[in-house]
Amino acid sequence: MQFTVAIDGPAAAGKGTISRAVADRFGLAHLDTGALYRAVGVKAAATGSDPVAAALSLTPEDLARADLRTLEAGQAASKVAVIPEVRQALLDYQRDFARRAGGAVLDGRDIGTVICPEAEVKLFVTASAEVRAHRRWLEVGGDAAQVLAEVRARDERDMTRADAPLKPAANAVQIDTSTMSIEEAVAAACAEVAARLPG
Ligand code: DC
Repeated sequence: MQFTVAIDGPAAAGKGTISRAVADRFGLAHLDTGALYRAVGVKAAATGSDPVAAALSLTPEDLARADLRTLEAGQAASKVAVIPEVRQALLDYQRDFARRAGGAVLDGRDIGTVICPEAEVKLFVTASAEVRAHRRWLEVGGDAAQVLAEVRARDERDMTRADAPLKPAANAVQIDTSTMSIEEAVAAACAEVAARLPG
């Protein structure tokens, strides 16, 4: 079965949780594409190497690093993600993953617009910047005002870059999770997928 679910949206909108739940529920493989950009950003910072070289030499070990979920890694990811050659270096891996037999869920910023424009299901998961910053703060702690400032800075960079900016695909279904519980958000996403599953 060729069946792709593209889930895009800004930082901490709930994409990761929703994507994992959708993948589990329908038995689909899942790729967190943000982890690719995080691994590139962290690797380039750690080795002082050029981000394009880091992207071209990415290994499973780089993707398994324990420090990919930090705020710093998110900012580093957002910065390397503006470089077209970095995006190009990660393109085939993402498209090959999407073509897996059995179907796949990919979450990121440009899945429905650039990576998988033919995806059977496209979701755009959002929430207000304040709600997203609060969720991120619950995960990472620290100074709440700084977490909000970082969420806003990342939104701005992700939405205004020239190459594959964050935006909903024309035919994406928007899910605003600002006032939803995790269960409600997952149920809304699963309903969209179930409605389009073949058979
Ligand atoms: O989803 P995330 O927070 O792990 O993503 C980290 C950064 O990586 C995000 O701020 C922008 C970049 N990114 C991207 O440009 N394209 C994607 N498909 C996924 C992430």
